[in-house]
Amino acid sequence: MSLIELKNIHKSYPLGDRELEILKGIDLQIEQGEFVAIMGPSGSGKSTLMNILGCLDKPSRGQYLLDGRRVENMTSDELAEVRNQKIGFVFQGFNLLSRISALENVELPMVYAGVGEQERTERAKKALERVGLKNRMHHQPNQLSGGQQQRVAIARAIVNDAPIIFADEPTGNLDTKMSVEIMDLFTKLNRELGRTIILVTHEEDIARYAQRIIRIVDGEKQ
Ligand SMILES: Nc1ncnc2c1ncn2[C@@H]1O[C@H](COP(=O)(O)OP(=O)(O)OP(=O)(O)O)[C@@H](O)[C@H]1O
Ligand SMILES: [Mg+2]
Repeated sequence: MSLIELKNIHKSYPLGDRELEILKGIDLQIEQGEFVAIMGPSGSGKSTLMNILGCLDKPSRGQYLLDGRRVENMTSDELAEVRNQKIGFVFQGFNLLSRISALENVELPMVYAGVGEQERTERAKKALERVGLKNRMHHQPNQLSGGQQQRVAIARAIVNDAPIIFADEPTGNLDTKMSVEIMDLFTKLNRELGRTIILVTHEEDIARYAQRIIRIVDGEKQ
């Protein structure tokens, strides 16, 4: 059984008295431990697909099996629980809270998961160490470089031991050197910790880090 199985996934939005169809019947399987890149032109539906894969949004039609569980009919509470247990997110704009430290940012998902304070701090420190930020734990995001901020976001994504990491244009705001650092880090998480990584990118150079490239054009898989 695949970790992720999409069958005939559609997503539409209402547009006046019609429907605007964004995803037009996507079939997709992703195995545990894969490192996959999703590519395609702007507006082709990559983020829409990622949001469905990441259980942030539901398809209008079709079937989504995640680790053997049907996702498409889950309530928003059930989706939140799945996200908490299985999924870490990394975004283009880092999405860190600006007034708290790197350490506190990484602790946040565990606050939501009800982990006690001492264990929280311990695990957050370990995650920051893993991304090479041991000596920047008490800095706030605006005291860190872009690449460092993205590493904090990656630490936050892995701190709950989520087996799947979704990253939507994680290097979009970074220069080449920082992008290489971030992609090396994803590669390490994939190879050494066995995390499944699914990443959206515009750049062929970035996609080459993945084992497989999925191309989306106008809401359809090529
Ligand atoms: N909530 C929404 N309501 C209506 N249309 C939407 C909504 N969200 C996205 N769309 C439309 O869906 C299409 C696909 O958007 P999406 O964000 O998935 O593209 P993308 O492939 O991620 O593009 P980019 O590379 O620019 O990030 C776009 O045409 C967009 O306008
Ligand atoms: Mg997008």
